[in-house]
Amino acid sequence: MKTIGVFDSGFGGLTVLRELIRLIPDARYVYLGDTARLPYGSKSRETIARYAISSAKFLVDRGADLLVIACNTATALAIDDIRAALPIPVIGVVEPGTQAALDAAKASSRGIEETHVVVLATAATTQSQAYSRSLSAAGLLSTEKACPLLVPLVEEGWLEQPAQKAVTLEVLRVYLLEGLEKAPNANVLLLGCTHYPLLKPLIETTLKTLHHPMQIIDSAAATAQAVAEALPWPIVPVEGLQPELLFYATDSIEKFQRLGSSFLNQPLAQVRLVDLGG
Ligand code: DGL
Repeated sequence: MKTIGVFDSGFGGLTVLRELIRLIPDARYVYLGDTARLPYGSKSRETIARYAISSAKFLVDRGADLLVIACNTATALAIDDIRAALPIPVIGVVEPGTQAALDAAKASSRGIEETHVVVLATAATTQSQAYSRSLSAAGLLSTEKACPLLVPLVEEGWLEQPAQKAVTLEVLRVYLLEGLEKAPNANVLLLGCTHYPLLKPLIETTLKTLHHPMQIIDSAAATAQAVAEALPWPIVPVEGLQPELLFYATDSIEKFQRLGSSFLNQPLAQVRLVDLGG
């Protein structure tokens, strides 16, 4: 059985793993969440590249035959450095997200020319303009919006309890209003951060209250699809087959298990602590 390495700065990449397991069940998955060095989204390109490369090499040492960079920030700022440093194929999240936005534009009544994509992402991702470049190369107009408060709100689980949810909805309202101010005709919303798929129901509610319907693109699902299509070995569907899952975290295993289960939608059994330095 082949091994797929999945890397994220923390728990958010488990949303990508969740989709991967669904599409490619006959694989062994080794996931690394670099929780000790999270958040990447507020750090410099050099630091992000250094952290991401050491994390990626760790997964190669654990037998990964293919690596999925499930972190938007690491993909946006360091995918070329990671590819240059590794002997295995590396798939990031920006290209699949772009492809999904392109597919949505083609299928919409506006078509590619009239589509305007708003990308919500971390500060580092928006500063890199990796999404704008990629979307522009695909012929799509885009506006990037940094949303630095969303990762902590998701990490703290401020999604359900009414008073907490109200705060998250208000933060989303401000970010979406600011994004839409720059792009009043935008019709596609690309979730350019691993944590944001968990906010999808709240984003839908916010867009309704703003009377601004948009098609929401989740790069987690698009990335899993891209991995399935690019897989250098055949997928063998076996009824009832459960993939082998092994998790590593660079900080508290207890926290990883507790928060991670809501990202993965199932309990995380085997989590090991690893020290990758600072
Ligand atoms: N994984 C990061 C991303 O997708 C979000 C968390 C962080 O800032 O490290 O951009």
